[in-house]
Amino acid sequence: MHRFTTRCRGAAMAADARRHRALSFAIAATATAAAAATLAISLALSTPAHAQSGGKPAAPAASAASAPIKVGFMLPYSGTYAALGNAIENGFRLYVQEQGGKLGGKDVEFHKVDDESDPAKAPENANKLIKRDQVDVVVGTVHSGVQMAIVKVAKENNTLLIIPNAGADEATGPLCGPNVFRSSFSNWQPGYAMGEVVANRGMKRVVTLTWKYAAGEQSVRGFKEAFEKRGGKVMRELTLPFPNVEFQALITEIASLKPDAVFVFFAGGGAVKFVKDWAAAGLKDKIPLYASGFLTDGTLQAQGAAAQGLETTLHYADGLTNPRDQSFRAAYAKAYKLQPDVYAVQGYDAAQMLAAGVKAVNGDMSRKNDVYKAIGAARIDSPRGAFTLSRAHNPVQDFYLRKVEGTENRSVGIAAKALADPARGCRL
Ligand code: PHB
Repeated sequence: MHRFTTRCRGAAMAADARRHRALSFAIAATATAAAAATLAISLALSTPAHAQSGGKPAAPAASAASAPIKVGFMLPYSGTYAALGNAIENGFRLYVQEQGGKLGGKDVEFHKVDDESDPAKAPENANKLIKRDQVDVVVGTVHSGVQMAIVKVAKENNTLLIIPNAGADEATGPLCGPNVFRSSFSNWQPGYAMGEVVANRGMKRVVTLTWKYAAGEQSVRGFKEAFEKRGGKVMRELTLPFPNVEFQALITEIASLKPDAVFVFFAGGGAVKFVKDWAAAGLKDKIPLYASGFLTDGTLQAQGAAAQGLETTLHYADGLTNPRDQSFRAAYAKAYKLQPDVYAVQGYDAAQMLAAGVKAVNGDMSRKNDVYKAIGAARIDSPRGAFTLSRAHNPVQDFYLRKVEGTENRSVGIAAKALADPARGCRL
């Protein structure tokens, strides 16, 4: 049975890979066909753009200006975070489609690697995109442990990196760099926002529970910082290895500790299982459960009744009233027959950030410093609400308090306005 499942998944992935290879090929072919038409325009535009940016020499060859932008997705397409990786890619591709298949006026060629959320394979996977495929930008990833390796390889090669999810505080902290950008959040941010909410409700004794890896531990650290600053006490920090889902003994332990509330970080498949186990253990109406919003984002169909009423903090929510979100949601639903989630938004905004860089250099990606400067200064018109980047290249953004109603994380207000990660240790 197990082997059968594995083989089916392998076959499906192979089909997926074939589909994407075909797509890359089609896009590359389009780029070639379009090259002749765009060449004159590119040449016409390149000189004034260079002159404007300080008299740098003109692009060395017409081919550099007409070559497609090579985007490398390093994302989880298998395992507990597979749905997250797919949503990010969907969001990114939607923005490209809306620009007529281009970014900053240039054709786009996609390459992709399944990182399996496995830190051990991360350096090799990052090198496949950077060294083998020679991409202009890596868009990756979801898992904070994998992210650490990507940051290192991207910095060594001075390759543009846009992080479309992973919150690893280090990436926009001590390991920040001119070429490293994030379209998502730092792990500290949603945890900190929730720490304020729980303290303001008068809760005093809280137990935390998460997977024992950077995302969980850093979310708890953010929560604890805000919560204890306001007089609360984290009485026990419980963990289990990533991506284990044997929650029963830990749930029993929490029940016996009788805290005022519990704060957790789980996401993807693990989040579905935790929310169901928590309700099945009879704790849903006994101990208030709080979390960063990943616990209930992209998971509500599967969590069903067990998730109703849960409150979380995140930089995206259902029921926002800005027109940008409304058009994004309509376009996403039309393209994919799915409702978007926070991961789709982060993918979409990663594409917007890249577009800002490409536009600023008129498509000449060899002008790396100008690309970085433009992305760093961009104001991103995001479905979550417009945001800018901090000096460490992390979004400065509002964190919503959300409550689960049916299959939606309805916004019930703003938990933290324009919250900036402290970027401790960043020397940019
Ligand atoms: C992370 O590993 O940084 C991570 C993974 C999944 C999430 C959020 C953060 O939903």
